[in-house]
Amino acid sequence: MLKRPIIIDTDPGVDDTIAIMLAKSHPELDIKAITPVTGNVPYSSTSQNALRLAKYLNIDCKVAIGADKPLFIESKTAGDIHGEGGLGGYILPSSDKDFEGYAWDVIKEEAIKANGELEIITLGPLTNIAITFLRYPEIKPLIKRIVCMGGSTYAGNMNAYAEFNIWVDPDACDIVFNSGVPITMCGLDGTEYAYLTIDELKGYIGKNTKIKDLFDHIFNFFIERRTASTDDDKLQVIYDAITMAYFINPNIGKTKKYRVDVETKGSLCAGRTIVDLFNKTKKEPNVDVLLWSDRDLFKDMLNKMLDFYK
Ligand code: BDR
Ligand code: CA
Repeated sequence: MLKRPIIIDTDPGVDDTIAIMLAKSHPELDIKAITPVTGNVPYSSTSQNALRLAKYLNIDCKVAIGADKPLFIESKTAGDIHGEGGLGGYILPSSDKDFEGYAWDVIKEEAIKANGELEIITLGPLTNIAITFLRYPEIKPLIKRIVCMGGSTYAGNMNAYAEFNIWVDPDACDIVFNSGVPITMCGLDGTEYAYLTIDELKGYIGKNTKIKDLFDHIFNFFIERRTASTDDDKLQVIYDAITMAYFINPNIGKTKKYRVDVETKGSLCAGRTIVDLFNKTKKEPNVDVLLWSDRDLFKDMLNKMLDFYK
């Protein structure tokens, strides 16, 4: 089988964890490295979660040291969304695995080894990727593409217009989106089509799999949060897992290329991705934007994932 060499850049995170479970269940993906970054919870937790997840899921890859703060601004986290430690209070067994090198060096090495075939999926702030491009601009042509969970075409989840991953490090996003590397942005509105209801979440729980403990814990965490939510619809969107599903199978989504710029500063909407839907800037489009995702296909992929872990 021709395998796809990939790197998962992530800030685990409950939805990152489901995304990494999904990646491991697709043997056509050759996971070369996991590169943690600060984000959902402080770097001390995201990095340990990455090491421990690699061990828990039996992923034979490097885990590299990533950025413990954004490029130019103060760290901001979202612990309230992801619970204590980032995994909804779940403590993974400790891992004898250790960090191997720095994220930017590992990305560079793997890009050279893969000779133009390396794909990167980012599930957190884009700091590690921006540092890679600042240090090693010569490797940009060697990256086949980046699929990024982040941004939004319309509304945000941190201020009226900014999405969390971009809001944490807008300067990093600016560097990556202007790098010339092919990019797909899976933002809030594009992924939200593949929502799960509380009853659907319940339907995935209790399956006899090797990942039952952690998977059920996270899905129960989602159910608790959705039940307590004041949103009328109480729907759960597992943003990172939907992005991974699209990365694995592009039939799950529809994209269109637009000019996308990032509001790096500003008192009202710093971190906003500005998608030029009507080509007002007349600038060259630079980002494929996910406009829609297939809910049924996503649900099916989750079921097949659980079958893999039986
Ligand atoms: C993104 O922010 C994080 O909290 C999630 O893990 C996801 O990557 C959604 O805005
Ligand atoms: Ca994430």
